[in-house]
Amino acid sequence: MNVEHAQNHTENHAIYSAGYQCPSNIALVKYWGKKSGGVQLPANPSISWSLGDLYASTVVHAMPRENDQAFVFTLGGVSKASFEPKIASFLTKIASDCPWLIDFTLHIDSQNNFPHGTGIASSAAGFGALGLCLAHIEQLIHGAPALDGRVNNMDFWQRSSYLSRIGSGSACRSMFDKPAVWGLSEAVNGSSDLFAVPLDGEIHPDLQGWKDVVLIVDDGEKSVSSTDGHALLEAHPYAGARFGQAQKNLGLLVEAMRSGDVQRFIAIVESEALQLHSMMMTSLPYYVLMRPNTLAIIEKIWQFRESSGLPICFTLDAGANVHLLYDGKIDKTLMNFVNTTLLPYCKNGQYLCSETGKRPVAIV
Ligand code: DP6
Repeated sequence: MNVEHAQNHTENHAIYSAGYQCPSNIALVKYWGKKSGGVQLPANPSISWSLGDLYASTVVHAMPRENDQAFVFTLGGVSKASFEPKIASFLTKIASDCPWLIDFTLHIDSQNNFPHGTGIASSAAGFGALGLCLAHIEQLIHGAPALDGRVNNMDFWQRSSYLSRIGSGSACRSMFDKPAVWGLSEAVNGSSDLFAVPLDGEIHPDLQGWKDVVLIVDDGEKSVSSTDGHALLEAHPYAGARFGQAQKNLGLLVEAMRSGDVQRFIAIVESEALQLHSMMMTSLPYYVLMRPNTLAIIEKIWQFRESSGLPICFTLDAGANVHLLYDGKIDKTLMNFVNTTLLPYCKNGQYLCSETGKRPVAIV
């Protein structure tokens, strides 16, 4: 990092700006538990699809430091004090990695295109977008052409993923159109605990172009946050077995995605969702995030798959909502099933649809 260069610019009152639209993502093999020591390192590798239609749009202007203030945050142009502690803590955690931050006040404006509190991983999209903006500004300060050059031996996408990870682990997987793998795995070339990488090699056509319908079962605040949930793995009696299972599942899922083994893909994805929730139910203190309608929807999905033989499955993140994943080729039939059979189980009939496999877009 060329700090001297950054300071010269500061004295010149230079302003650096960047903006990104960054998708949320849904994990197929789950990140649940962090390595002890280190900042936000996963206890096991995970893999996800980005959700291109559920995104955060963030613009950052780095202005010469004003009133010793590290940042000013607005949500769609309106101050939002409740978001400030998370951003303050993020900027503190990346301070030694980004020494240029000290010279600037970051004016951050962010907005999601999906309602906050629907259980969609807003932190993944939000910190993903913020990580991209900071990596971009860092390159501008360097004087390197944007999206080119390397910082700490990482390319732009790795660096964005690296910074986003420190804000929220799952955010680091929002950078790619290909499935994103975060965490060391023998099954994936170049995989790392520090940032996510796109899955190498070809994905079978039968496992491309899938879509997600997020069935909103509960739009209230979760009783236990993901961050607190991860911490409960530290003293969890089944943690070791779960981490081993996730490693194994990642290898098997990658194999299924490359060979087009849809049945195996479905079995692993659903098992991963249930393992995630079984870890919550067997933590101390134990808790349950699924609601009766979560199970009702899962049963309807199983019945429909059994009778139709169609390529569909469910997954869950750390909440009550159900993600219904399906091959985009059966869009019409699937949406008909959602509207006739699943809608009564959705809170106020709410659901959100998204394509998978879209990458972030620069908006400034
Ligand atoms: C269940 O990334 O939200 O969605 O790193 O503490 O911010 P922090 O947690 P977070 O955890 C997400 C967990 C999950 C599974 C996953 O996305 O892999």
